[in-house]
Amino acid sequence: MREENQSSTKEFILLGVTGQQEQEDFFFILFLFLYPITVVGNLLIILAILSDSCLHNPMYFLLANLSLVDIFFSSVTIPKMLANHLMGSKAISFVGCLTQMYFMIALANTDSYMLAAMAYDRAIAISRPLHYTTIMSLWSCILLVVASWVIGNANALPHTLLTASLSFCGSKEVANFYCDISPLLKLSCSDIHLNVKMMYLGVGVFSVPLLCIIVSYVRVFSTVLHIPSTKGVQKAFSTCGSHLTVVSLYYGTVMGMYFRPLTSYSLKDAVIAVMYMTVTPMLNPFIYSLRNRDMKAALKKLFHRRSSS
Ligand SMILES: *[C@@H]1O[C@H](CO)[C@@H](O)[C@H](O)[C@H]1NC(C)=O
Repeated sequence: MREENQSSTKEFILLGVTGQQEQEDFFFILFLFLYPITVVGNLLIILAILSDSCLHNPMYFLLANLSLVDIFFSSVTIPKMLANHLMGSKAISFVGCLTQMYFMIALANTDSYMLAAMAYDRAIAISRPLHYTTIMSLWSCILLVVASWVIGNANALPHTLLTASLSFCGSKEVANFYCDISPLLKLSCSDIHLNVKMMYLGVGVFSVPLLCIIVSYVRVFSTVLHIPSTKGVQKAFSTCGSHLTVVSLYYGTVMGMYFRPLTSYSLKDAVIAVMYMTVTPMLNPFIYSLRNRDMKAALKKLFHRRSSS
């Protein structure tokens, strides 16, 4: 009896982004382009930073760590989606589904806390330049990175365990292109009250960094406004403006998806998920670094070394 129940929950069906064949083809092509760009772009950032000793400081270490998280983050969902589309299959095993969910939540949270660490770093650099090297020592930098990973994984574990303990007796069709909490909870025939409460708590934990980011930027802007030269103001506004674009895109999509009643969840939310699953990890390295002169110089050096050796 128990065996039978278990075998019936062994597989889920991933319906995809929209569920319509032509649109699935479109998203397949889109992901096929975006995924290599994301991986290569982030990898280049990491290599450029590690190989250039001028960039061995907290700001760039954090950026390299963010790129690393972004590579993992997009690798949790996109390759599986591409492979399934190629093989004409929509299946994912129960364990595969939970694994995907675990890493998706863990890495999204780690990403979120690292964005906060980066904003904090900039706030200290701009508002307390004289104390910067003592406050942002190598140790505090390592601490911020480790804390991001620990919090990310600590936030993923309870959701995954709670979902693993549910039973799924009806439809196995997950209304998304990867295994996410909301569509899975909708499929369960168990009591999901605790799961839903934990999900809101989880979104809360995920959103704490947003508060740190806002506080950091308020400090940055209030410092910058006291700089007499308009050039300095313009420069600070243009870099902070691009950071803020990524940040609002990121938190806007996540909160739009999870901070509302579960009953209103439907397949079209998967389109929003595409945004933060693929577009933000791809944009991060470009927005954070390509407008930056030191970063461009480091990339040039990296290519030069490769071609001359
Ligand atoms: C991440 O940050 C740590 C500590 O700041 C640094 O030593 C390490 O090189 C960084 N990792 C990457 C991949 O850059």
